[in-house]
Amino acid sequence: MRISRLLIILTIIVFVLTPLSCTQQPALIPTQPSGSNLDPKPEKKYADLIVGYAQLGAESEWRVANTISVKETANQLGVELRFLDAQQKQENQISAIRKFIIQKVDVIGISPIVETGWDEVFQEAENAGIPIILVDRRAAVPENLYVTYLGSDFLEEGRKAARVMAKLVNGQANIVELEGTIGSAPANDRYTGFREIIRSYPGMRIIDSQSGDFTRARGKEVMADFLLKYGKKITAVYAHNDDMALGAIQAIEEYGLKPGVDIKIVSVDAARGAFEAMIAGKLNATIECNPLLGPQFFELALKVVNGQSVPKWVPSIEGIFFPEDASTILPTRKY
Ligand code: AHR
Repeated sequence: MRISRLLIILTIIVFVLTPLSCTQQPALIPTQPSGSNLDPKPEKKYADLIVGYAQLGAESEWRVANTISVKETANQLGVELRFLDAQQKQENQISAIRKFIIQKVDVIGISPIVETGWDEVFQEAENAGIPIILVDRRAAVPENLYVTYLGSDFLEEGRKAARVMAKLVNGQANIVELEGTIGSAPANDRYTGFREIIRSYPGMRIIDSQSGDFTRARGKEVMADFLLKYGKKITAVYAHNDDMALGAIQAIEEYGLKPGVDIKIVSVDAARGAFEAMIAGKLNATIECNPLLGPQFFELALKVVNGQSVPKWVPSIEGIFFPEDASTILPTRKY
């Protein structure tokens, strides 16, 4: 009797509790994900961005245009820009990056003055979670230390200059070369690209090559030295930028020769000064290198901050200009 009562009580307990446990169980499984990594981050807008920019200096017409493009675009978009001019010194660019890291900017833009010597400071930015965008010039660092490079194909610019020169001189020339800043990406690549093409022209010889540091003053000094050393033997000048070509033009005139006629000149940048020199018949061609990188730079910065993927290289689109078109094109040039 006792046993059967006990059985009845147990059956009732099981009957009552079973549906309860079934209905309670789902309540233990969260219906909404609550983990913070699954919550979408609010998208940043231009007005939310704080960008550090380590410019290398103000050595050329090109660089001045590049700086204006970056500053004006930041202003138009409402981006907070922290801009530092390193005055041609790598150590100043390095300390600028360190300042930006302390200030916890969202993105760092830099035009590295030379290619090497960046690993340590770029790693510091990486450790702080701040992405680096290379603008205009590459740095020789592992690919994980920068998100993208926005700028020109300097090798191709060197090749274009050589092809144009070969036509101008009919495959026969004694060339002197005015190189850019020693160790910089454009100087290294314009040097190499030019030689790749010249190699196929046995009548074209590079008789000397020196750095004019991308400035007009040094371009003039180095050209004056070349003229003292080689005189009328020089029949062509290849300048890694327009400013040095303009300096060389002055030196050639002071020496008593006609630039563009006695000595053919090809340079790189396509800045307004080069167009004026072509109109005056003193420069034979300029290969474009576009400094107006501000809009693309900030577009990339916003994408990167919002976690969107960007290509490892965003190349600029560039042309070649000759004296016959110079007066039509000059009024349209923005730099
Ligand atoms: O890095 C681009 C080069 O730097 C330009 O050709 C030159 O003018 C500048 O100084």
